[in-house]
Amino acid sequence: MSLPLEFFNYQNGVLTSGGVSLENVARSVGTPVYVYSAEAFLHPLRQLQAGLAEENHMICFAVKSNSNIAVLKLLGSQGAGMDLVSGGELSRAQAAGIAANKTVFSGIGKTKTEMSLALQYQNQGIFSFNVESIPELHSLNEVARDLNKKARVALRFNPDVNPRTHPYISTGLKKNKFGMNRKEILQLVGILEKEFRWIELHGISIHIGSQLLSLSPLRDAFDRVQTLIDEVNSKLKQPLRFVDLGGGLGITYQAERTPSLEKYCELICKYFGKRSPYKGSLKILLEPGRTISGNAGILLTEVLYRKERKQKDFLILDAGMNDLIRPALYESYHGVVPLFQESARDPKRKVTLVGPVCESADCFAEQRLLPSSLKKGDCVAILSSGAYGFSMASNYNSRPRPAEVLIQDGKFRVIRERESYEDLLRGEIF
Ligand code: LLP
Repeated sequence: MSLPLEFFNYQNGVLTSGGVSLENVARSVGTPVYVYSAEAFLHPLRQLQAGLAEENHMICFAVKSNSNIAVLKLLGSQGAGMDLVSGGELSRAQAAGIAANKTVFSGIGKTKTEMSLALQYQNQGIFSFNVESIPELHSLNEVARDLNKKARVALRFNPDVNPRTHPYISTGLKKNKFGMNRKEILQLVGILEKEFRWIELHGISIHIGSQLLSLSPLRDAFDRVQTLIDEVNSKLKQPLRFVDLGGGLGITYQAERTPSLEKYCELICKYFGKRSPYKGSLKILLEPGRTISGNAGILLTEVLYRKERKQKDFLILDAGMNDLIRPALYESYHGVVPLFQESARDPKRKVTLVGPVCESADCFAEQRLLPSSLKKGDCVAILSSGAYGFSMASNYNSRPRPAEVLIQDGKFRVIRERESYEDLLRGEIF
C-alpha cells in the first residue's frame, strides 16, 4: 500500500520513517505520540529556498502550525525565519535562538505587552509587525514612543479574493475580520507621517487563506497587491522595501492535487522578483506553515477497543479530539494506516475510528476500509498531522497532551514529554 507521505513508508511490513521503526517509538514512548521526520520538514523548505534563490527573500515558518522548539531550531538552523502570532510564540522563537531580524509578528489582536516584547526582542526588535487596523497602529505607535524605538511595519491588505478553501480558514474576503481594504490603507498612508511618528512603513502583507489548492486566487491577490504597492509608493518618500505574501499553499491529505512549489515560486518571482516591475527592490517574505509541517508528522495511536455493531464497527483509539482537533473542527480528512502493513489477502472491513472523548464529534475517520483483524492493542497512524495537530491540542476531558518525537539521522528522540497528571493540576488553587 502506498502512502501519500514521502517520508513515512513500510519497511519489512512495519511503518517506518528515516529507517526508524514506529513500532519501537510506540513501545518506548507510548501512545498517543506525534512522530515527526526532520527530513520531511526540510524538504519543502529547501524547495522554497531553491525557487526563490535568485531573489532577496525570507521564509518565515508559521509557528502556529507546529510550535515545538526543537522543530523551530531545526528549521532555523537551515535558514528559516519565523512568523509569530503571540508573545508565547515569541518566547518559543527566542528559546530556539531565532534572530530578531528573521521574525515577523502577524495577527489582528496583538496586546501592548506583546508589542513591547517584540520591539525589544534581542534589543533590535523584530523585522516587522504586520498591522491589521488603524487602532492597532495607534497602540504600536504608543508602545514604540514609550520605548523610544521605531517600529517597522507592514500593513496587512485584505484583497477580497475567494481562496476557495474551508470557510474557517478563509481570510482574504472582505467579510473576514482580517486586514484592511485598499481605501483604509491609502488613508492611513496619507496620515502616517503626521500621526504615527514612531512607525516606519516598510511593507505590505497578505494572507488570503490556508490549504489553497490552486494558484489562481493568489494570482488575483497578487494583481491587487501590485496595484496597491504602486499607489502606496506614489505617496511615500521612500518606497516600500518588502512584500509579505503570507502562507497558504495546500498539501495532499487524500488525493488533492496541489500546485508545485516550483510553480508557486515562479508566480511569486514574476509578480515581485527581479524580473518584475520592482526589479529586485522588494524583499519577498513568505509565511508557510502547513506546506512545511503538514506532511512531516503523523499521530500514532493505539486501539483501545474494537466495538462491533450490526450497522457499524468502531475502533476506539487512545487519541482523541483534544489531541488532533482538525477532523472535528473542519471535517478534515486524514489518512489512517495500520502500524503493520496489511497483506493483500487480509480481509478488510469498514470501521469508524473514534477517540475516547465524550462528544460525538470525537471522530477521526468514518467508514474506512482497514484490516478486519485490527483489534485491541494494535496501533494505527493518523497521517498528515504535522500541521495544526499538537499546536491545537488541548487538555479537554483533563487529558494530558501527547508526547512528540523527532526522527533525524536514523534515530528518534523525544522532543516533548507526555504531560503528566501533575502538569495538568499545576497552577490550580484549591
Ligand atoms: N500567515 C498568517 C497570517 C496566517 O494566519 C496563517 C495561518 C499562516 C501564515 C500559515 O498558513 P498555512 O501556510 O499553514 O496555510 N488550523 C487550521 C489552519 C489555520 C490557519 C491559520 N492561519 C487547520 O488546521 O487547517
